[in-house]
Parts: sequence; structure tokens; C-alpha cells
Amino acid sequence: MKILAIETSCDETALALIQVDKENQSYKVLDHTLYSQIKEHSKYGGVVPFLASRLHSKKLPQMLVDFIHQNGRDIDKISVTTGPGLSPSLYVGANQALLLGTAMNIPVESINHLHGHIWSSFMNYNLEGEKPANDIFPFISILISGGHTEMILVQKYNSYKVISKTVDDAVGEAFDKVAKMLNLGYPGGPIVSKLAMKGDPQIIKFPRPMISSGDGKMSFSGLKTAVLYYLRDHHNMSKQDINNLCASFEQAVIDVIISKTSWVIEKYNPKLITVGGGVIANQELRDSFIKLSSKYNLVFKLPISILTTDNAIMIGIVGALNEIYNIKEKFKNVDPNWELPEID
Ligand code: KG4
Ligand code: ZN
Repeated sequence: MKILAIETSCDETALALIQVDKENQSYKVLDHTLYSQIKEHSKYGGVVPFLASRLHSKKLPQMLVDFIHQNGRDIDKISVTTGPGLSPSLYVGANQALLLGTAMNIPVESINHLHGHIWSSFMNYNLEGEKPANDIFPFISILISGGHTEMILVQKYNSYKVISKTVDDAVGEAFDKVAKMLNLGYPGGPIVSKLAMKGDPQIIKFPRPMISSGDGKMSFSGLKTAVLYYLRDHHNMSKQDINNLCASFEQAVIDVIISKTSWVIEKYNPKLITVGGGVIANQELRDSFIKLSSKYNLVFKLPISILTTDNAIMIGIVGALNEIYNIKEKFKNVDPNWELPEID
């Protein structure tokens, strides 16, 4: 069977066509496409929700027409993100999915964007994946994006409990705000991490908020404010000074994430950890996770680079796994606050 996946929760308009082989319990990407609105939002220093929805409305219908023209109408199900995310953006994808599903007489299912990030690691470089082995459960998934920073216990397929999360800013948001303070553009993560490569992370001792809290709670707002105060007190910074600031900020973020990951490993003793969300595009952080994996002798599964930031393939992976696990999701209305349940 073939699944058309649609993702429009933030500022990427994305489609993917996934073939599912239920007998062999495997899936592969047949085609995918993505239009990023980054250029349009960068002059505002962040995503402007109504501009995002206007651009989705402008792009998505023609993208769908071209995609179906190229790949044929042989589609058995539509999987569409209906939350969490920006409400006006989510509605564009959801409405198109409903219209198309009705016209083609095929089911439309709602996919939670966070489930997409959780399962984004379950696809190899050939864009193929298979049903995970039963013994990977329970595992921990760490979600680090522009809107979310949380550690999730995946008890079994489709059973998720949030263990802990940030008490304020998401980690990607902190990167974006620091980039904005430095007038570096949007999104901040890729720019800050590029400059950080040329800097010395030991130069500025930024705080590591809540690193010693003895639980999984995280906080990034104080770190962002520390950068703000540093910039207020230091004028005429050279290019190298900015590189050092970026490296020092990035190191503080990584120290917090690695320390919280160590906490969750020691508390839950999982065999596997997956990491999803745009911030895992950060190479320093990827390297730190790999080091941690040998320290604790456990597997860290990280998404391939095109699946780190928002995309439709990860939505299609969930659509495919729902088929493989025989889970029939219905279309639920758009819910911008469709969060995962917290652990008791
Ligand atoms: O998952 P994503 O595309 O969107 C959300 O669901 O939020 O994540 C976007 C976030 C942005 O905040 C962006 O700055 C951050 O991921 N990001 C990075 C890097 N690449 C993207 N953060 C740190 N280092 C990177 N290389
Ligand atoms: Zn995302």
C-alpha cells in the first residue's frame, strides 16, 4: 500500500510518498518534497504564523498536483499532521488532506507531529525502514526542537509518556533567540553552531541552568538571559569574540542535555535512546551523544540529516508503522496543543 504524508505544522510545506509492505513489515520512501519558508521568515527573526499559513496555502495545492502527477493516483491513505504546531499552518495541511481524501475516497488519519520526531530515527540512508524489534521497548526518546524539549518514555508502540521537559524555553528556541540578539538571522541553530565551530567553548562561563536539580527538568531561559547580559556588558565584539560566545553558549546547552540524558539513563536503564527534532542536526551534540552511548554501552539512534528538522517523511513513517501495527487512526480536528500525556 502507499501512504501520502502531509506536513505543514510550522514553516515547512512537505510531502512524502511511502510504500508499506505489510507482509515484510517494512516501508520505504518512494518520493518526497519540501518547501522551506525560512527565507521569508528570516527577515522577521522568527516564524510569523499568518505569513506561514499564507505561504502553505500558496504552495501546497500546486505541490500536491505536481506530486500526484509525478507519482500517480495510486494512494491508499493520507497521513497528515494535525498538531501540535501553529494553528493557521496546521489547518492548511489538514483541509487539503480532507479534500483530497474525500475526492479519492481514501482514509485520512491524523498524525501527532511529536510522534513523527520520535520515529524519525527509524529510517536508514536508503530511506527504508522496518518494524522495530519487540525488545527495544521500553525506550527513551529525547525530543529537542524549536517548540519542544522533553524526554519521553515509549512504553510500547503508540504509548508515550513525558518523563520531563523544559520549564521554560525549548532548546531550539534558545538557539534562535541568541541568534536574534546577535543579528545572525533565523533559524539560529545552524548559524550559531557554524560560528561555534570556530570558537573556544571555554572562554565564557555561561550558567548550566538546573544541571544539578537531581531530576530531568530543564531550563534554557536563564542561559539566554545570561547571553543577553553578556552582550549588554561587552561592546565592540570582534568576529572571534562572537565565535567564542556561540561556542560557549552551545557548550552550556550540550552540558545540560548530556547531564539530563545521563539522569534518564540511570533512572530508567533503557537499552535504546532515540533523539528527534531540529537541534539534533547539531554536530557537537551528535558527537556528545555518541560518546555517551559508549560510556553507558547503549544504542543511540539518531535521524539521518534530512529527517532532523521538520519533514513529511517522519509523518509517513508513523503512518506506515500504524499499518504494520494494525492501528487505525481517525482524522481528528486540528489541535495546536496536542501534547503527549505526562507520566504519573
Ligand atoms: O524540529 P524543527 O524543524 O521544528 C520544530 O518542530 O520546532 O526544529 C527547528 C529548530 C530551530 O529552533 C533551529 O534553530 C534548531 O531546530 N536547529 C538547530 C540546528 N539546526 C536546527 N539547533 C542547533 N544546532 C543546529 N545545527
Ligand atoms: Zn518539529
